[in-house]
Amino acid sequence: MARVVLVGQNSDLRKRLEEVAHTAGLDLISFPGVEALAVSEPPAVLVVELELKGAIDGVANCKRRWPACMVIGAMRLPIQELWHAAVAAGADLVSNWGALPRQLQHRLEAYQRGESLVPKAVRIKVMLYDRQGDGLVGRLPDAQGGPVAVFRIDQKLCAIRDVCPHEGASLADGQVDGKVLTCPRHGSQFHVCTGSRLRGPADYSIRTYRVVIEDGETFVEL
Ligand code: FES
Repeated sequence: MARVVLVGQNSDLRKRLEEVAHTAGLDLISFPGVEALAVSEPPAVLVVELELKGAIDGVANCKRRWPACMVIGAMRLPIQELWHAAVAAGADLVSNWGALPRQLQHRLEAYQRGESLVPKAVRIKVMLYDRQGDGLVGRLPDAQGGPVAVFRIDQKLCAIRDVCPHEGASLADGQVDGKVLTCPRHGSQFHVCTGSRLRGPADYSIRTYRVVIEDGETFVEL
């Protein structure tokens, strides 16, 4: 049976999500923390309370492990940095506790009609700058889900979400040294190909995207 899995500790949220899941004919199981999460089969939906310790890494790990699972970040209060971080980690939806049950209900109704819970990846063509060497080679400033920057590092193309998880600066304007990208505003550092955070003040890593080259054209999969 398809399941909704909740990683969280708030009993009201659990109760409301349980009602929504049952209405859609889905079971709901919950775990008190990311480290306690133990499921053998991929859930249809995973909801993670973002204020929990390790929640952002949990979102990123689960999305990597179960790409077809709809991963939702649930916040008690809308904190912009945490919101950006959850999106950057790959959350398909970020919402506050009050709005989430209704949003999930709508998604599950669509799911029952046969729609996918997770939107299919969209390929966007990117025009690369005519330049040699490593560094920034392309941008998608208006991409769905936020701006994207494309870098060439050791002949490999790497695409990242062009928003610093600290205070939102454009990372395309940062400095690249080897594989280390430094944010131009306060100096946070990230691995430009894996998105991993190397140094704060940013607390979180950045989202990366697959780059595909076909018939001499370059695409980013969003
Ligand atoms: S905005 Fe990037 S480090 Fe502050």
